[in-house]
Amino acid sequence: MEETAKIIFEGKEYSFPVVRGSEGELAIDIAKLRAQTGLVTLDDGFVNTGSTMSAITFLDGERGILRYRGYDIAELAENSTFLEVAYLLIYGELPSAAVFDNFKKTITRHTLIHEDLKRLYDGFPKDAHPMATLGSMINTLSGYYIRDTSDPLDPVGRELSIHRLLAKTPTIVAFSYKKSIGHPMMYPKNSLNYIANFIRMMFAVPAENYAVDPVIERALDLLLILHADHEQNCSTSTVRLVGSSRANVFAAISSGVNALWGPLHGGANQAVIEMLDEIHKEGGGVKKFVALAKDKNSNFRLMGFGHRVYKNFDPRAKIIKKACMDVLDKLGIKDPLLDIAMQLEDAALKDDYFVERKLYPNVDFYSGLIYRALGIPTEMFTVMFALGRMPGWIAQWKEMIENPSAKIGRPRQIYNGHTARPFIPIAKR
Ligand code: CMC
Repeated sequence: MEETAKIIFEGKEYSFPVVRGSEGELAIDIAKLRAQTGLVTLDDGFVNTGSTMSAITFLDGERGILRYRGYDIAELAENSTFLEVAYLLIYGELPSAAVFDNFKKTITRHTLIHEDLKRLYDGFPKDAHPMATLGSMINTLSGYYIRDTSDPLDPVGRELSIHRLLAKTPTIVAFSYKKSIGHPMMYPKNSLNYIANFIRMMFAVPAENYAVDPVIERALDLLLILHADHEQNCSTSTVRLVGSSRANVFAAISSGVNALWGPLHGGANQAVIEMLDEIHKEGGGVKKFVALAKDKNSNFRLMGFGHRVYKNFDPRAKIIKKACMDVLDKLGIKDPLLDIAMQLEDAALKDDYFVERKLYPNVDFYSGLIYRALGIPTEMFTVMFALGRMPGWIAQWKEMIENPSAKIGRPRQIYNGHTARPFIPIAKR
């Protein structure tokens, strides 16, 4: 029997279908609400609004569960690689060895960026934020590949664009780093795997032998897996919304990059290190900062704490905290900011303010400490998040565009401005 939910308005009862997800999640389908009742829903920040059905990522914030295509994040982090996870997210299944081999070859074939596109870097100042560069570069790719992207409904062009995006993003990111330090750009070396190739493009210099440190490679692989998708967050919803107008995939995903940049979203990983640095400079005491975060007259928040969906430990944060200890230990690094982070976590988790509001460390709290240990500069942390999130954005865009009943995204509003008033000529105002 079809489940329904009833809404009573002005004494009249209306029934709406209840949709049940494969994990038992429940939603009221209100597509006909306005037509039947004249009402729309109002949900600032989309706190309770499901924008789509999706088979990609399952997240249960109360129980601290995160799964990609049904596979637990901890299992993937332990046993898989970023590129394999990218395949899983985009195509829905783990690849066989032969299929994966083919996929790797395809991605490798597209790692170069057009030489003319390289000149775009010259238009940026040396200290441009790498998120500005990344967003612009990805958007500009549509200028180079417009024939293959202008119709997102064409499956051949779609496939090619997906491969190009995955393949070129590490090159674009590494080139922007080289530009920022004034070093020559390192071209991709396609005999290396996806992660090792990226590390080499970031840190090698021409005419020197460079061997990728396996500890760094594994740590980065893990971090990118943990960032690969997170269902309908701010940047992913942006990708879907822009893509819903059938703008090309590069335009849609560069919008996602820009949405990720903000400190309440992916920009938090940079903000965490800046906050820990400030605490360190002030002598290392965390009390003042915990008090400041609780003070409603200050705009200060504990960066790397709290999450819209997780009201229990962020499962990614647990894995990252352990990885952070391991990596620092293996690389023989003693970072005073790690001690401060642990003191801050401890103080917050014992504080009623944070306990009552269920504010736990999120994915960004310890990730920056690992990036730092790997030699990645602070302003590049959010770009690393974007590199990791690329398969998720692609998968979500693909799912949306391949859905024949997908509509252009177009929310309603409740207008609360002036009602109609007559125009007053300027001389009489
Ligand atoms: N420090 C201090 N207070 C906080 C914090 C924090 N980090 N986060 C939330 N609160 C308080 C907030 O002031 C509010 O208090 P009250 O009920 O008294 O008004 C309550 O907790 C609920 O917060 P909210 O802002 O209504 O929650 P939200 O779901 O809209 O925001 C958030 C979620 C992640 C934007 C927020 O927790 C935050 O700003 N955290 C710091 C930034 C951060 O770490 N962002 C990365 C998120 S994880 C990576 C990603 O996926 O983007």
